[in-house]
Amino acid sequence: MSNVAQEAARRRTFAIISHPDAGKTTLTEKMLLFGGAIQMAGSVKGRKAARHATSDWMALEKERGISVTSSVMQFPYEGRIVNLLDTPGHADFGEDTYRVLTAVDSALMVIDVAKGVEERTIKLMEVCRLRDTPIMTFINKLDREGKNPIDLLDEVESVLKIQCAPVTWPIGMGQRLKGVVHLITGEVHLYEAGKNFTRQDSTIFPSIDDPGVEAAIGAPMLAELREELELVEGASHSFDLDAYLRGVQTPVFFGSAVNNFGLQPLLDFFVEHAPSPQARATTSRDVSPTEGKLTGFVFKIQANMDPQHRDRVAFMRICSGKFAAGMKAFHVRSGKEQKLANALTFMASDRELAEDAWPGDVIGLHNHGTISIGDTFTEGEQLSFTGIPNFAPELFRRARLRDPLKLKQLQKGLAQLSEEGATQFFKPMMSNDLILGAVGMLQFDVVAYRLKDEYGVEATFEPVQVSTARWVRCDDPKKLEEFIDKNAVNLSHDASGALVYLAPTRVNLQLAEERSPAVTFMATREHA
Ligand code: G4P
Repeated sequence: MSNVAQEAARRRTFAIISHPDAGKTTLTEKMLLFGGAIQMAGSVKGRKAARHATSDWMALEKERGISVTSSVMQFPYEGRIVNLLDTPGHADFGEDTYRVLTAVDSALMVIDVAKGVEERTIKLMEVCRLRDTPIMTFINKLDREGKNPIDLLDEVESVLKIQCAPVTWPIGMGQRLKGVVHLITGEVHLYEAGKNFTRQDSTIFPSIDDPGVEAAIGAPMLAELREELELVEGASHSFDLDAYLRGVQTPVFFGSAVNNFGLQPLLDFFVEHAPSPQARATTSRDVSPTEGKLTGFVFKIQANMDPQHRDRVAFMRICSGKFAAGMKAFHVRSGKEQKLANALTFMASDRELAEDAWPGDVIGLHNHGTISIGDTFTEGEQLSFTGIPNFAPELFRRARLRDPLKLKQLQKGLAQLSEEGATQFFKPMMSNDLILGAVGMLQFDVVAYRLKDEYGVEATFEPVQVSTARWVRCDDPKKLEEFIDKNAVNLSHDASGALVYLAPTRVNLQLAEERSPAVTFMATREHA
């Protein structure tokens, strides 16, 4: 096997999907602990500056009780390299989350045992479905009273329309929590608060028939457990690797993140069965991770690491080949070769590897405005990864300046913020307005805050008569010209120069579509 194939095979790149408060952050921290801990992407560069920078930004997050920043964490576990891509927590950041989910190979769904399937989990699951992303499930907070585990699995199956295959099963819950049984290995892992940080530090019996189990949980509970396990065996699915990889079955684990309990069986199973990087579609062909030449796509741009320098980092997921520090790569959209100098890798303790990155890994490229979300890098081949969309915004505002002399800064700020995906930004063909589009209200607040904080521009946003946006395309240049002539008043360019129809009403959009059959109206724009 080539080096690339070997390194790709041991990568596990995933994200956690959950409703706020289910325990994503806690679980992330504990996983890092298991893996021997790391650097986090949010504070990779100039730790002091980063801390200062993030603290201002955090003010807004704190004020609103949300988390809008995101990060990449890498840690080794059992001979594998795990990449955990954090998804932003707030519902308004759906776009961003969506794009993070395009960069992973699998997901871990965290569910609060007391609350069951919550609304945000349902939405994220829908996103995972679009790509049939394989999903493992962790039912968290077992140290508290919650729903009956069998009912919970039923709930997951009926609400999320995915088969459940329990891999661990709880012994008691809340005050009575004694441990979990591993349904595949038969092992019993005892719950002992303050322990379980390592395998050595845990009490594990080879099976429920081990006398130690009865001694630990008592005969009545053991009898109860035996009955329950029989029931579970009859009523639930057993793990089917193929069904999991196709995204139709989810293996389920129980535990308590804050107590570090139940995580080890999850992690062990995860690194063994979760998919390594798979082939990915591009505009011209599928790219296999084992190919020798570097390819990758940018799924996220993050600023604010240091507002003094407007330092922006483009996060690129590597899809094939090897990245070596300082190498040159071909930026497909601009057609230019670019030196990938000072790229950030998010490797944990394994210092020697910090210079290289492989399929499944994410690297951070310093970006001075030339890189956009969706961009592909190769070693010269003309291809672009597909499936990283911009969504048609649902909410629109016109930007108004307090100080008209700051128009330049405003334009620059909006252009940069839209490049990051913080908002979308449109320039109408027939006016000098600057129109912002968002999929969630909160995005406008974030943009106003950042314009002031980072660009020194005070802007307000006022309502504007736009109800929806469609990217338009027409292969016939003559017809396109006609269309533009007739509809100029409703046409704009987005930040990348693409033509967009801003419809004042839904009815107007419908009419425009009917009148121009040669033109395609698209609700998402794939980053080209
Ligand atoms: P999130 O990122 O999904 O939003 O959740 P987060 O990890 O922040 O956890 C939300 C709350 O749930 C936290 O409590 C956290 O301590 C708690 N929690 C996480 N895992 C468990 C668990 O296994 N058992 C119990 N009982 N609680 C758990 P908090 O009070 O909001 O914050 P903190 O003051 O404890 O940090």
